[in-house]
Amino acid sequence: VSKMVEEAKKLAGYAAVDNHVKDNQAVGIGSGSTIVHAVKRLAERVKEENLNVVCVPTSFQARQLILENCLPLSDLDRHPELDVAIDGADEVDSELNLIKGGGGCLTQEKIVASCAKSFIVIADYRKDSSALGEQWKKGIPVEVIPMAYVPVSRAIQSQFGGSADLRMAVSKAGPVVTDNGNFLLDWRFDQEHNWSAVNTTIKMMPGVVDTGLFINLAERVYFGMEDGTV
Ligand code: A5P
Repeated sequence: VSKMVEEAKKLAGYAAVDNHVKDNQAVGIGSGSTIVHAVKRLAERVKEENLNVVCVPTSFQARQLILENCLPLSDLDRHPELDVAIDGADEVDSELNLIKGGGGCLTQEKIVASCAKSFIVIADYRKDSSALGEQWKKGIPVEVIPMAYVPVSRAIQSQFGGSADLRMAVSKAGPVVTDNGNFLLDWRFDQEHNWSAVNTTIKMMPGVVDTGLFINLAERVYFGMEDGTV
């Protein structure tokens, strides 16, 4: 990843934390590479401003990030209502619908986002898209219970076309296993769809845990741009 992209991620992460995190808040912490910058900024602000916050992770990675940065770790048992959740995205369309789950953490990310009064997305300029699929070519992730991956894959393909393939691990033989012990299908679609309807239909398929379509959840998206603006 180029230095410019990394800088754009940092700009977005810093802007979200500076504009949306306040004292005495419960904050949802997303997953991926962009959120790393936001967590670093949050740790800085906690030190400098003596902020009192608790952080709820969306993945094993997010939990590690919170601990490494010495931020207070919590969970939805203790903080079922979050003031804000901040997370990255793989792609954002003009209506702020998202594709998420490139890193496989979509289910916990969606749970945490749904518990937040405001869900703020941070991304670099490459994620900004007018229609889903324009930029992100890896498809829409769908988390499935392992025994259901073939029937779900077939159902998605027969109802909506395209191809829904089991995500395979790179440094082990076999499929990627999510933080929840499930498999992932990556559905590469070949036409535009009504994403809200597609999301509902896929979610209803037996064995589907959740999809990487985040419809109507994001309140605001910060894009770090190539020219250094946000
Ligand atoms: C994790 O499963 C994803 O939903 C991430 O939020 C998304 O892939 C963004 O990651 P980056 O910040 O690394 O692009």
